[in-house]
Amino acid sequence: MSLHQVARFADVREDRGLEVNINDTPILLLRSGDQVRAFQGKCPHAGAPLVKGAVCHGRLICPWHKAAFRAEDGALCEPPALDSLARYHVEVRDGDVWVDDQPLPADKIPPADDARTFVIIGAGAAGTACVAALREKGFGGRILMIDREAEAGYDRTVLSKYVLAGDMAIKETAPLRDETYFTQQRIERLHGEVTLLDPGARQIQLADGRRLDYDAALIATGGEPKTLALPGIDLPQVFVLRSIAHARQILDAVRPGQRAVIIGDSFIAMEVASSLRKHELSVTVVARHPVPFAAQLGESVGQAILARHRANGVVYHTDGEAARIEGSHKVEAVVLDNGQRFAADVVIIGVGVRPATEPFAQLAREQDQSLSVDAGMRVADGVWAVGDIATFPLNGAPVRIEHWRLAQQQARIAAANMLGGDEHYLDVPFFWTYHFGKRYDYLGHAEHWDEVEFKGTPEHPPFIALLGKDGLVAAAVACDEGRAMAALAQRMKQPLPVDEAWRLVRDFSS
Ligand SMILES: Cc1cc2nc3c(=O)[nH]c(=O)nc-3n(C[C@H](O)[C@H](O)[C@H](O)COP(=O)(O)OP(=O)(O)OC[C@H]3O[C@@H](n4cnc5c(N)ncnc54)[C@H](O)[C@@H]3O)c2cc1C
Ligand code: FES
Repeated sequence: MSLHQVARFADVREDRGLEVNINDTPILLLRSGDQVRAFQGKCPHAGAPLVKGAVCHGRLICPWHKAAFRAEDGALCEPPALDSLARYHVEVRDGDVWVDDQPLPADKIPPADDARTFVIIGAGAAGTACVAALREKGFGGRILMIDREAEAGYDRTVLSKYVLAGDMAIKETAPLRDETYFTQQRIERLHGEVTLLDPGARQIQLADGRRLDYDAALIATGGEPKTLALPGIDLPQVFVLRSIAHARQILDAVRPGQRAVIIGDSFIAMEVASSLRKHELSVTVVARHPVPFAAQLGESVGQAILARHRANGVVYHTDGEAARIEGSHKVEAVVLDNGQRFAADVVIIGVGVRPATEPFAQLAREQDQSLSVDAGMRVADGVWAVGDIATFPLNGAPVRIEHWRLAQQQARIAAANMLGGDEHYLDVPFFWTYHFGKRYDYLGHAEHWDEVEFKGTPEHPPFIALLGKDGLVAAAVACDEGRAMAALAQRMKQPLPVDEAWRLVRDFSS
Protein backbone atom coordinates (compact mmCIF):
# COMPACT_ATOMS: atom_id res chain seq x y z
CA MET A 1 0.00 0.00 0.00
CA SER A 2 1.29 3.45 -0.88
CA LEU A 3 -0.76 6.21 0.74
CA HIS A 4 -0.73 9.78 -0.53
CA GLN A 5 -1.92 12.84 1.37
CA VAL A 6 -4.45 14.35 -1.05
CA ALA A 7 -6.77 16.81 0.76
CA ARG A 8 -7.94 18.32 4.02
CA PHE A 9 -11.02 16.54 5.38
CA ALA A 10 -12.76 19.92 5.79
CA ASP A 11 -12.50 20.54 2.03
CA VAL A 12 -14.52 17.44 1.08
CA ARG A 13 -18.20 18.34 0.62
CA GLU A 14 -21.22 16.08 1.10
CA ASP A 15 -23.29 17.22 -1.90
CA ARG A 16 -20.60 16.72 -4.54
CA GLY A 17 -17.20 15.18 -4.93
CA LEU A 18 -13.74 16.67 -4.68
CA GLU A 19 -11.31 15.64 -7.39
CA VAL A 20 -7.70 14.97 -6.46
CA ASN A 21 -4.89 13.47 -8.51
CA ILE A 22 -2.40 10.77 -7.65
CA ASN A 23 0.28 10.26 -10.30
CA ASP A 24 -2.00 12.01 -12.85
CA THR A 25 -4.89 9.64 -12.08
CA PRO A 26 -8.05 11.56 -11.13
CA ILE A 27 -9.67 10.28 -7.96
CA LEU A 28 -13.00 11.44 -6.57
CA LEU A 29 -13.44 11.93 -2.83
CA LEU A 30 -16.97 11.74 -1.43
CA ARG A 31 -17.89 12.53 2.12
CA SER A 32 -20.73 11.16 4.20
CA GLY A 33 -20.69 12.39 7.82
CA ASP A 34 -17.22 11.69 9.16
CA GLN A 35 -16.46 9.12 6.45
CA VAL A 36 -14.57 9.83 3.23
CA ARG A 37 -14.59 7.44 0.29
CA ALA A 38 -12.41 7.47 -2.82
CA PHE A 39 -13.42 6.30 -6.29
CA GLN A 40 -12.10 6.53 -9.82
CA GLY A 41 -12.58 10.12 -11.00
CA LYS A 42 -13.80 9.36 -14.51
CA CYS A 43 -17.08 7.69 -15.34
CA PRO A 44 -16.56 4.13 -16.60
CA HIS A 45 -19.08 4.79 -19.39
CA ALA A 46 -17.44 7.49 -21.49
CA GLY A 47 -15.03 9.20 -19.13
CA ALA A 48 -17.07 12.15 -17.79
CA PRO A 49 -15.43 13.93 -14.86
CA LEU A 50 -17.56 12.66 -11.97
CA VAL A 51 -16.68 15.74 -9.96
CA LYS A 52 -19.18 17.57 -12.17
CA GLY A 53 -21.94 15.12 -11.20
CA ALA A 54 -24.39 15.35 -8.32
CA VAL A 55 -24.63 13.44 -5.06
CA CYS A 56 -28.30 13.02 -4.32
CA HIS A 57 -30.21 10.52 -2.14
CA GLY A 58 -27.10 8.43 -1.53
CA ARG A 59 -26.21 8.20 -5.21
CA LEU A 60 -23.52 9.79 -7.34
CA ILE A 61 -24.99 10.65 -10.74
CA CYS A 62 -22.80 11.24 -13.79
CA PRO A 63 -23.20 14.66 -15.43
CA TRP A 64 -23.11 13.35 -19.00
CA HIS A 65 -25.51 10.41 -19.50
CA LYS A 66 -26.76 10.00 -15.91
CA ALA A 67 -25.22 6.67 -14.91
CA ALA A 68 -25.75 6.34 -11.14
CA PHE A 69 -23.49 4.76 -8.52
CA ARG A 70 -24.08 4.07 -4.81
CA ALA A 71 -22.18 6.78 -2.92
CA GLU A 72 -21.39 4.30 -0.15
CA ASP A 73 -19.36 1.84 -2.23
CA GLY A 74 -19.49 2.93 -5.89
CA ALA A 75 -21.77 0.02 -6.88
CA LEU A 76 -23.47 0.49 -10.25
CA CYS A 77 -27.15 1.46 -9.85
CA GLU A 78 -28.10 2.77 -13.28
CA PRO A 79 -26.52 2.48 -16.74
CA PRO A 80 -25.21 3.47 -19.27
CA ALA A 81 -22.11 2.58 -17.28
CA LEU A 82 -21.79 -1.19 -17.11
CA ASP A 83 -19.29 -1.31 -14.25
CA SER A 84 -19.18 -0.20 -10.67
CA LEU A 85 -16.61 2.44 -9.73
CA ALA A 86 -13.14 1.31 -8.78
CA ARG A 87 -12.57 2.08 -5.09
CA TYR A 88 -9.43 3.19 -3.25
CA HIS A 89 -8.43 2.65 0.35
CA VAL A 90 -8.79 5.91 2.38
CA GLU A 91 -7.52 6.99 5.80
CA VAL A 92 -8.27 10.24 7.63
CA ARG A 93 -5.53 11.30 10.03
CA ASP A 94 -5.35 14.61 11.92
CA GLY A 95 -7.77 16.24 9.50
CA ASP A 96 -5.87 15.05 6.41
CA VAL A 97 -7.19 12.58 3.81
CA TRP A 98 -4.78 9.87 2.66
CA VAL A 99 -5.55 7.63 -0.34
CA ASP A 100 -3.79 4.53 -1.67
CA ASP A 101 -2.57 4.86 -5.25
CA GLN A 102 -3.85 1.40 -6.28
CA PRO A 103 -7.56 0.52 -6.53
CA LEU A 104 -9.02 -2.18 -4.30
CA PRO A 105 -9.54 -5.60 -6.00
CA ALA A 106 -12.63 -5.76 -8.23
CA ASP A 107 -15.53 -8.11 -7.53
CA LYS A 108 -14.96 -11.81 -8.18
CA ILE A 109 -16.36 -13.63 -11.21
CA PRO A 110 -19.17 -16.03 -10.17
CA PRO A 111 -18.11 -19.72 -10.21
CA ALA A 112 -19.63 -22.01 -12.88
CA ASP A 113 -22.00 -23.62 -10.41
CA ASP A 114 -25.31 -23.40 -12.29
CA ALA A 115 -26.50 -25.83 -14.98
CA ARG A 116 -28.91 -23.38 -16.64
CA THR A 117 -28.39 -21.75 -20.06
CA PHE A 118 -29.52 -18.17 -20.62
CA VAL A 119 -29.69 -17.02 -24.23
CA ILE A 120 -29.50 -13.33 -25.08
CA ILE A 121 -30.71 -12.44 -28.58
CA GLY A 122 -29.10 -9.17 -29.67
CA ALA A 123 -25.75 -7.86 -28.43
CA GLY A 124 -26.61 -4.16 -28.60
CA ALA A 125 -27.25 -1.72 -25.78
CA ALA A 126 -29.68 -3.95 -23.91
CA GLY A 127 -28.20 -7.38 -24.67
CA THR A 128 -24.74 -6.37 -23.48
CA ALA A 129 -26.12 -4.69 -20.35
CA CYS A 130 -28.06 -7.86 -19.56
CA VAL A 131 -25.06 -10.20 -19.73
CA ALA A 132 -23.03 -7.79 -17.59
CA ALA A 133 -25.86 -7.62 -15.03
CA LEU A 134 -26.30 -11.40 -14.94
CA ARG A 135 -22.67 -11.92 -13.92
CA GLU A 136 -22.73 -8.88 -11.59
CA LYS A 137 -25.75 -10.43 -9.85
CA GLY A 138 -23.90 -13.72 -9.39
CA PHE A 139 -25.26 -15.95 -12.17
CA GLY A 140 -22.70 -18.71 -12.77
CA GLY A 141 -24.51 -20.61 -15.55
CA ARG A 142 -23.96 -20.60 -19.30
CA ILE A 143 -24.57 -17.28 -21.09
CA LEU A 144 -24.86 -17.29 -24.85
CA MET A 145 -25.22 -13.95 -26.64
CA ILE A 146 -26.22 -14.04 -30.31
CA ASP A 147 -26.09 -11.22 -32.85
CA ARG A 148 -26.39 -11.02 -36.61
CA GLU A 149 -24.02 -8.03 -36.77
CA ALA A 150 -20.40 -9.15 -36.90
CA GLU A 151 -19.25 -6.07 -34.96
CA ALA A 152 -22.10 -6.20 -32.45
CA GLY A 153 -21.66 -4.75 -29.00
CA TYR A 154 -20.59 -1.18 -29.71
CA ASP A 155 -21.95 2.25 -28.91
CA ARG A 156 -24.18 3.04 -31.89
CA THR A 157 -25.14 6.46 -30.52
CA VAL A 158 -21.76 7.88 -31.62
CA LEU A 159 -22.34 6.99 -35.27
CA SER A 160 -24.53 9.98 -36.12
CA LYS A 161 -22.65 12.33 -33.78
CA TYR A 162 -18.89 11.75 -33.98
CA VAL A 163 -18.26 9.03 -36.58
CA LEU A 164 -20.10 10.67 -39.49
CA ALA A 165 -18.65 14.03 -38.46
CA GLY A 166 -15.14 12.59 -38.80
CA ASP A 167 -14.39 13.27 -35.11
CA MET A 168 -14.10 9.54 -34.34
CA ALA A 169 -12.68 6.86 -36.64
CA ILE A 170 -14.90 3.82 -37.15
CA LYS A 171 -12.26 1.62 -35.55
CA GLU A 172 -12.42 3.80 -32.44
CA THR A 173 -16.15 3.15 -32.00
CA ALA A 174 -16.13 1.98 -28.43
CA PRO A 175 -16.89 -1.71 -27.88
CA LEU A 176 -19.24 -1.98 -24.95
CA ARG A 177 -17.04 -4.78 -23.55
CA ASP A 178 -13.68 -6.01 -24.75
CA GLU A 179 -12.71 -9.58 -25.66
CA THR A 180 -10.88 -10.11 -22.35
CA TYR A 181 -14.10 -9.38 -20.50
CA PHE A 182 -16.09 -11.97 -22.46
CA THR A 183 -13.37 -14.59 -21.99
CA GLN A 184 -12.92 -13.93 -18.28
CA GLN A 185 -16.66 -13.88 -17.64
CA ARG A 186 -17.26 -17.04 -19.75
CA ILE A 187 -19.74 -15.29 -22.01
CA GLU A 188 -20.08 -17.10 -25.32
CA ARG A 189 -20.75 -14.97 -28.37
CA LEU A 190 -22.30 -16.31 -31.50
CA HIS A 191 -22.50 -14.50 -34.83
CA GLY A 192 -25.80 -15.55 -36.36
CA GLU A 193 -29.39 -14.58 -37.05
CA VAL A 194 -32.20 -15.91 -34.89
CA THR A 195 -35.16 -16.80 -37.13
CA LEU A 196 -37.54 -18.41 -34.64
CA LEU A 197 -38.22 -18.58 -30.92
CA ASP A 198 -40.49 -21.37 -29.70
CA PRO A 199 -41.52 -20.41 -26.14
CA GLY A 200 -43.27 -23.76 -25.52
CA ALA A 201 -40.21 -25.85 -26.37
CA ARG A 202 -37.83 -23.20 -24.95
CA GLN A 203 -35.82 -23.35 -28.14
CA ILE A 204 -34.50 -20.91 -30.70
CA GLN A 205 -33.56 -21.53 -34.29
CA LEU A 206 -30.84 -19.81 -36.30
CA ALA A 207 -30.81 -18.95 -40.00
CA ASP A 208 -28.23 -21.71 -40.60
CA GLY A 209 -30.67 -24.29 -39.17
CA ARG A 210 -29.04 -24.72 -35.76
CA ARG A 211 -31.38 -25.13 -32.80
CA LEU A 212 -30.47 -24.10 -29.27
CA ASP A 213 -32.27 -24.87 -26.03
CA TYR A 214 -32.56 -22.31 -23.28
CA ASP A 215 -33.79 -22.05 -19.70
CA ALA A 216 -34.39 -18.30 -19.98
CA ALA A 217 -34.20 -16.05 -23.03
CA LEU A 218 -33.89 -12.29 -23.44
CA ILE A 219 -35.03 -10.71 -26.70
CA ALA A 220 -33.13 -7.47 -27.34
CA THR A 221 -33.18 -7.20 -31.12
CA GLY A 222 -33.68 -3.43 -31.29
CA GLY A 223 -35.02 -1.44 -34.21
CA GLU A 224 -34.58 -1.55 -37.95
CA PRO A 225 -34.57 1.73 -39.84
CA LYS A 226 -37.84 2.35 -41.63
CA THR A 227 -37.52 3.01 -45.30
CA LEU A 228 -39.99 4.69 -47.66
CA ALA A 229 -41.98 3.16 -50.50
CA LEU A 230 -40.65 5.70 -52.99
CA PRO A 231 -39.64 5.15 -56.60
CA GLY A 232 -35.83 5.21 -56.68
CA ILE A 233 -35.39 4.15 -53.04
CA ASP A 234 -33.08 1.30 -54.12
CA LEU A 235 -30.66 3.53 -56.04
CA PRO A 236 -27.02 3.51 -54.97
CA GLN A 237 -26.14 6.36 -52.58
CA VAL A 238 -29.49 6.13 -50.73
CA PHE A 239 -28.71 5.22 -47.13
CA VAL A 240 -30.11 4.65 -43.66
CA LEU A 241 -28.09 4.75 -40.41
CA ARG A 242 -28.29 2.15 -37.67
CA SER A 243 -25.00 0.25 -37.71
CA ILE A 244 -21.27 0.58 -38.24
CA ALA A 245 -21.77 -0.98 -41.69
CA HIS A 246 -24.24 1.81 -42.58
CA ALA A 247 -21.87 4.49 -41.28
CA ARG A 248 -19.06 3.02 -43.37
CA GLN A 249 -21.24 3.11 -46.49
CA ILE A 250 -22.10 6.77 -45.92
CA LEU A 251 -18.51 7.78 -45.18
CA ASP A 252 -17.27 5.96 -48.29
CA ALA A 253 -19.80 7.87 -50.38
CA VAL A 254 -19.52 11.47 -49.18
CA ARG A 255 -17.05 14.05 -50.51
CA PRO A 256 -16.69 17.76 -49.67
CA GLY A 257 -18.79 19.92 -51.95
CA GLN A 258 -21.42 17.24 -52.57
CA ARG A 259 -25.14 17.71 -51.96
CA ALA A 260 -26.86 15.63 -49.29
CA VAL A 261 -30.62 15.44 -48.96
CA ILE A 262 -31.90 14.04 -45.70
CA ILE A 263 -35.48 12.82 -45.70
CA GLY A 264 -36.98 13.13 -42.22
CA ASP A 265 -36.43 15.35 -39.18
CA SER A 266 -35.89 12.62 -36.57
CA PHE A 267 -33.12 12.96 -33.98
CA ILE A 268 -30.85 10.79 -36.11
CA ALA A 269 -31.73 12.73 -39.29
CA MET A 270 -30.83 16.06 -37.67
CA GLU A 271 -27.67 14.67 -36.07
CA VAL A 272 -26.61 13.41 -39.51
CA ALA A 273 -27.29 16.88 -40.94
CA SER A 274 -25.03 18.39 -38.29
CA SER A 275 -22.27 15.83 -38.96
CA LEU A 276 -22.34 16.08 -42.75
CA ARG A 277 -21.94 19.86 -42.60
CA LYS A 278 -18.54 19.16 -41.04
CA HIS A 279 -17.61 17.38 -44.27
CA GLU A 280 -18.53 20.57 -46.12
CA LEU A 281 -21.48 19.03 -47.91
CA SER A 282 -24.47 21.20 -48.64
CA VAL A 283 -27.29 19.69 -46.59
CA THR A 284 -31.03 19.94 -47.16
CA VAL A 285 -33.48 18.35 -44.71
CA VAL A 286 -36.88 17.49 -46.16
CA ALA A 287 -38.86 17.75 -42.94
CA ARG A 288 -42.38 16.80 -41.89
CA HIS A 289 -42.51 19.18 -38.94
CA PRO A 290 -42.22 22.97 -39.08
CA VAL A 291 -39.94 22.79 -36.01
CA PRO A 292 -37.88 19.69 -35.24
CA PHE A 293 -38.40 17.99 -31.87
CA ALA A 294 -41.16 20.42 -30.79
CA ALA A 295 -43.33 17.46 -29.71
CA GLN A 296 -40.60 16.12 -27.45
CA LEU A 297 -38.53 19.12 -26.30
CA GLY A 298 -41.09 21.90 -26.65
CA GLU A 299 -41.41 24.60 -29.30
CA SER A 300 -38.73 27.00 -27.98
CA VAL A 301 -35.98 24.40 -27.65
CA GLY A 302 -36.89 22.97 -31.05
CA GLN A 303 -36.71 26.48 -32.55
CA ALA A 304 -33.32 27.08 -30.94
CA ILE A 305 -31.92 23.81 -32.33
CA LEU A 306 -33.35 24.65 -35.74
CA ALA A 307 -31.73 28.10 -35.59
CA ARG A 308 -28.43 26.43 -34.76
CA HIS A 309 -28.76 24.21 -37.83
CA ARG A 310 -29.67 27.15 -40.06
CA ALA A 311 -26.80 29.25 -38.71
CA ASN A 312 -24.51 26.40 -39.70
CA GLY A 313 -25.86 26.25 -43.23
CA VAL A 314 -28.47 23.48 -43.09
CA VAL A 315 -31.50 24.11 -45.33
CA TYR A 316 -34.60 22.93 -43.44
CA HIS A 317 -37.42 22.51 -45.92
CA THR A 318 -40.97 21.92 -44.71
CA ASP A 319 -43.08 22.49 -47.78
CA GLY A 320 -43.95 19.16 -49.42
CA GLU A 321 -43.14 15.48 -48.92
CA ALA A 322 -40.59 13.39 -50.78
CA ALA A 323 -42.42 11.70 -53.70
CA ARG A 324 -39.59 10.03 -55.64
CA ILE A 325 -35.84 9.72 -55.88
CA GLU A 326 -34.44 10.22 -59.36
CA GLY A 327 -31.28 8.86 -60.97
CA SER A 328 -30.15 6.33 -63.51
CA HIS A 329 -27.07 4.57 -62.10
CA LYS A 330 -26.92 6.56 -58.93
CA VAL A 331 -29.05 9.07 -57.11
CA GLU A 332 -29.42 12.48 -58.78
CA ALA A 333 -32.32 14.24 -57.06
CA VAL A 334 -35.17 14.05 -54.58
CA VAL A 335 -38.47 15.27 -55.99
CA LEU A 336 -41.28 16.40 -53.70
CA ASP A 337 -45.02 15.91 -54.17
CA ASN A 338 -45.31 19.64 -55.03
CA GLY A 339 -42.83 19.21 -57.90
CA GLN A 340 -39.85 20.81 -56.16
CA ARG A 341 -36.59 19.10 -57.00
CA PHE A 342 -33.45 18.95 -54.87
CA ALA A 343 -30.29 17.79 -56.63
CA ALA A 344 -28.55 15.15 -54.52
CA ASP A 345 -25.32 13.13 -54.52
CA VAL A 346 -26.36 11.23 -51.39
CA VAL A 347 -29.73 10.70 -49.73
CA ILE A 348 -30.19 9.62 -46.15
CA ILE A 349 -33.54 8.39 -44.90
CA GLY A 350 -34.11 9.25 -41.22
CA VAL A 351 -37.76 8.53 -40.54
CA GLY A 352 -37.57 6.30 -37.48
CA VAL A 353 -37.31 2.59 -36.78
CA ARG A 354 -39.62 -0.38 -36.53
CA PRO A 355 -39.15 -3.16 -33.97
CA ALA A 356 -37.04 -6.08 -35.27
CA THR A 357 -39.42 -8.82 -34.16
CA GLU A 358 -40.10 -11.00 -37.25
CA PRO A 359 -38.68 -14.16 -35.61
CA PHE A 360 -41.02 -13.82 -32.63
CA ALA A 361 -44.38 -14.35 -34.31
CA GLN A 362 -45.28 -16.97 -31.68
CA LEU A 363 -45.34 -14.22 -29.06
CA ALA A 364 -48.15 -11.68 -28.83
CA ARG A 365 -47.19 -8.56 -30.78
CA GLU A 366 -48.62 -5.05 -30.71
CA GLN A 367 -49.84 -3.29 -33.85
CA ASP A 368 -46.41 -1.70 -34.31
CA GLN A 369 -44.93 -5.22 -34.09
CA SER A 370 -43.34 -4.55 -30.70
CA LEU A 371 -43.54 -7.13 -27.91
CA SER A 372 -45.79 -6.25 -25.01
CA VAL A 373 -44.10 -6.92 -21.67
CA ASP A 374 -45.25 -6.67 -18.06
CA ALA A 375 -43.68 -4.31 -15.54
CA GLY A 376 -40.90 -6.87 -14.97
CA MET A 377 -40.13 -6.98 -18.74
CA ARG A 378 -41.52 -10.54 -19.10
CA VAL A 379 -43.24 -11.35 -22.37
CA ALA A 380 -43.97 -15.09 -21.85
CA ASP A 381 -42.93 -17.93 -19.59
CA GLY A 382 -39.12 -17.92 -19.58
CA VAL A 383 -38.88 -15.04 -22.08
CA TRP A 384 -38.11 -11.38 -21.41
CA ALA A 385 -37.99 -8.52 -23.94
CA VAL A 386 -36.33 -5.13 -23.58
CA GLY A 387 -35.15 -2.04 -25.43
CA ASP A 388 -36.46 -0.65 -28.70
CA ILE A 389 -38.75 -3.67 -29.25
CA ALA A 390 -40.56 -3.56 -25.90
CA THR A 391 -43.89 -1.90 -25.13
CA PHE A 392 -43.88 -1.61 -21.35
CA PRO A 393 -46.04 0.06 -18.68
CA LEU A 394 -44.73 3.49 -17.66
CA ASN A 395 -46.79 5.20 -14.96
CA GLY A 396 -49.66 2.88 -15.90
CA ALA A 397 -49.67 3.55 -19.65
CA PRO A 398 -48.12 1.26 -22.28
CA VAL A 399 -45.25 2.98 -24.14
CA ARG A 400 -42.36 2.07 -26.37
CA ILE A 401 -39.33 4.32 -26.01
CA GLU A 402 -36.17 4.21 -28.09
CA HIS A 403 -33.44 5.42 -25.70
CA TRP A 404 -30.03 3.90 -25.05
CA ARG A 405 -30.04 4.24 -21.26
CA LEU A 406 -33.61 3.01 -20.92
CA ALA A 407 -32.83 -0.11 -22.99
CA GLN A 408 -30.01 -0.85 -20.57
CA GLN A 409 -32.11 -0.12 -17.48
CA GLN A 410 -34.74 -2.54 -18.73
CA ALA A 411 -32.02 -5.11 -19.40
CA ARG A 412 -30.80 -4.89 -15.81
CA ILE A 413 -34.35 -5.36 -14.56
CA ALA A 414 -34.85 -8.36 -16.86
CA ALA A 415 -31.54 -9.86 -15.65
CA ALA A 416 -32.68 -9.60 -12.03
CA ASN A 417 -36.02 -11.21 -12.91
CA MET A 418 -34.46 -13.99 -15.02
CA LEU A 419 -32.70 -14.88 -11.75
CA GLY A 420 -35.99 -15.01 -9.86
CA GLY A 421 -36.31 -11.37 -8.79
CA ASP A 422 -39.33 -9.12 -8.98
CA GLU A 423 -37.98 -5.77 -10.18
CA HIS A 424 -39.97 -3.16 -12.07
CA TYR A 425 -39.08 -0.02 -13.99
CA LEU A 426 -39.44 2.89 -11.55
CA ASP A 427 -37.03 5.34 -13.14
CA VAL A 428 -37.14 8.42 -15.33
CA PRO A 429 -36.45 7.94 -19.05
CA PHE A 430 -33.43 9.90 -20.26
CA PHE A 431 -31.84 10.58 -23.64
CA TRP A 432 -29.42 13.01 -25.18
CA THR A 433 -28.90 14.40 -28.65
CA TYR A 434 -26.00 16.34 -30.17
CA HIS A 435 -26.05 19.18 -32.70
CA PHE A 436 -23.14 21.35 -33.80
CA GLY A 437 -21.10 20.77 -30.66
CA LYS A 438 -23.92 21.01 -28.12
CA ARG A 439 -25.43 18.09 -26.19
CA TYR A 440 -29.09 18.46 -25.20
CA ASP A 441 -30.32 16.31 -22.32
CA TYR A 442 -33.93 15.23 -21.81
CA LEU A 443 -35.45 13.68 -18.69
CA GLY A 444 -39.01 12.35 -18.51
CA HIS A 445 -41.53 11.27 -21.11
CA ALA A 446 -44.06 14.06 -21.51
CA GLU A 447 -46.67 14.02 -24.24
CA HIS A 448 -48.54 17.01 -22.79
CA TRP A 449 -47.60 19.90 -20.53
CA ASP A 450 -49.36 23.09 -19.47
CA GLU A 451 -46.39 25.28 -18.55
CA VAL A 452 -42.79 25.75 -19.62
CA GLU A 453 -40.35 27.70 -17.48
CA PHE A 454 -36.76 28.50 -18.34
CA LYS A 455 -33.54 29.24 -16.56
CA GLY A 456 -31.43 30.82 -19.29
CA THR A 457 -32.51 30.79 -22.91
CA PRO A 458 -32.24 27.86 -25.33
CA GLU A 459 -30.61 30.11 -27.96
CA HIS A 460 -27.68 30.76 -25.60
CA PRO A 461 -26.85 27.70 -23.47
CA PRO A 462 -26.54 26.95 -20.63
CA PHE A 463 -30.27 26.62 -20.04
CA ILE A 464 -32.82 24.38 -18.37
CA ALA A 465 -36.48 24.18 -19.32
CA LEU A 466 -38.97 22.52 -16.99
CA LEU A 467 -42.12 21.25 -18.70
CA GLY A 468 -44.82 21.17 -16.02
CA LYS A 469 -48.20 19.46 -15.87
CA ASP A 470 -50.60 20.20 -13.01
CA GLY A 471 -47.77 21.81 -11.03
CA LEU A 472 -45.45 18.78 -11.31
CA VAL A 473 -42.39 18.40 -13.50
CA ALA A 474 -43.32 16.25 -16.50
CA ALA A 475 -39.98 16.64 -18.26
CA ALA A 476 -36.76 18.65 -18.16
CA VAL A 477 -34.65 19.70 -21.15
CA ALA A 478 -31.23 21.26 -20.79
CA CYS A 479 -27.90 22.06 -22.36
CA ASP A 480 -24.64 22.51 -20.40
CA GLU A 481 -26.39 21.93 -17.06
CA GLY A 482 -24.95 18.51 -16.28
CA ARG A 483 -24.97 18.69 -12.48
CA ALA A 484 -28.50 20.06 -12.12
CA MET A 485 -29.85 17.50 -14.59
CA ALA A 486 -28.00 14.75 -12.71
CA ALA A 487 -29.79 15.81 -9.52
CA LEU A 488 -33.14 16.00 -11.36
CA ALA A 489 -32.58 12.48 -12.75
CA GLN A 490 -32.66 11.23 -9.19
CA ARG A 491 -35.40 13.51 -7.79
CA MET A 492 -37.84 13.09 -10.68
CA LYS A 493 -38.29 9.44 -9.72
CA GLN A 494 -40.89 10.79 -7.29
CA PRO A 495 -43.53 13.41 -8.20
CA LEU A 496 -41.60 16.69 -8.13
CA PRO A 497 -43.40 20.07 -7.81
CA VAL A 498 -42.05 22.64 -10.27
CA ASP A 499 -41.16 25.10 -7.47
CA GLU A 500 -39.17 22.48 -5.63
CA ALA A 501 -37.40 21.53 -8.87
CA TRP A 502 -36.23 25.13 -9.34
CA ARG A 503 -34.81 25.15 -5.79
CA LEU A 504 -32.94 21.96 -6.62
CA VAL A 505 -31.68 23.45 -9.89
CA ARG A 506 -30.42 26.52 -8.01
CA ASP A 507 -28.61 24.35 -5.45
CA PHE A 508 -26.94 22.16 -8.08
CA SER A 509 -26.29 24.65 -10.87
CA SER A 510 -23.04 26.11 -9.62
C1 LIG B 1 -27.23 6.55 -35.04
C2 LIG B 1 -28.00 6.41 -33.76
C3 LIG B 1 -27.85 7.37 -32.76
C4 LIG B 1 -28.55 7.27 -31.56
N1 LIG B 1 -28.36 8.21 -30.60
C5 LIG B 1 -28.98 8.08 -29.41
C6 LIG B 1 -28.75 9.00 -28.36
O1 LIG B 1 -27.98 9.95 -28.51
N2 LIG B 1 -29.36 8.81 -27.17
C7 LIG B 1 -30.21 7.78 -26.98
O2 LIG B 1 -30.76 7.66 -25.88
N3 LIG B 1 -30.47 6.88 -27.95
C8 LIG B 1 -29.87 7.00 -29.16
N4 LIG B 1 -30.12 6.09 -30.15
C9 LIG B 1 -31.08 5.01 -29.90
C10 LIG B 1 -30.39 3.84 -29.20
O3 LIG B 1 -29.23 3.47 -29.89
C11 LIG B 1 -31.35 2.67 -29.09
O4 LIG B 1 -32.47 3.06 -28.35
C12 LIG B 1 -30.67 1.48 -28.43
O5 LIG B 1 -29.57 1.03 -29.19
C13 LIG B 1 -31.66 0.35 -28.23
O6 LIG B 1 -31.00 -0.75 -27.70
P1 LIG B 1 -31.44 -2.23 -28.09
O7 LIG B 1 -30.51 -3.13 -27.36
O8 LIG B 1 -32.90 -2.36 -27.94
O9 LIG B 1 -31.14 -2.34 -29.67
P2 LIG B 1 -29.77 -2.30 -30.44
O10 LIG B 1 -28.74 -1.56 -29.72
O11 LIG B 1 -30.10 -1.90 -31.84
O12 LIG B 1 -29.31 -3.82 -30.47
C14 LIG B 1 -30.06 -4.80 -31.15
C15 LIG B 1 -29.12 -5.87 -31.67
O13 LIG B 1 -29.89 -7.00 -32.06
C16 LIG B 1 -29.35 -7.55 -33.24
N5 LIG B 1 -30.40 -8.32 -33.91
C17 LIG B 1 -31.56 -7.86 -34.44
N6 LIG B 1 -32.30 -8.90 -34.91
C18 LIG B 1 -31.57 -10.03 -34.69
C19 LIG B 1 -31.80 -11.41 -34.96
N7 LIG B 1 -32.93 -11.83 -35.55
N8 LIG B 1 -30.84 -12.29 -34.62
C20 LIG B 1 -29.68 -11.87 -34.02
N9 LIG B 1 -29.43 -10.57 -33.73
C21 LIG B 1 -30.37 -9.67 -34.05
C22 LIG B 1 -28.88 -6.33 -34.01
O14 LIG B 1 -27.88 -6.69 -34.95
C23 LIG B 1 -28.36 -5.42 -32.90
O15 LIG B 1 -26.97 -5.57 -32.70
C24 LIG B 1 -29.43 6.17 -31.37
C25 LIG B 1 -29.59 5.21 -32.38
C26 LIG B 1 -28.88 5.32 -33.56
C27 LIG B 1 -29.04 4.27 -34.64
S1 FES C 1 -19.94 9.33 -19.22
FE1 FES C 1 -21.01 8.85 -17.41
S2 FES C 1 -22.88 8.07 -18.06
FE2 FES C 1 -21.82 8.52 -19.88
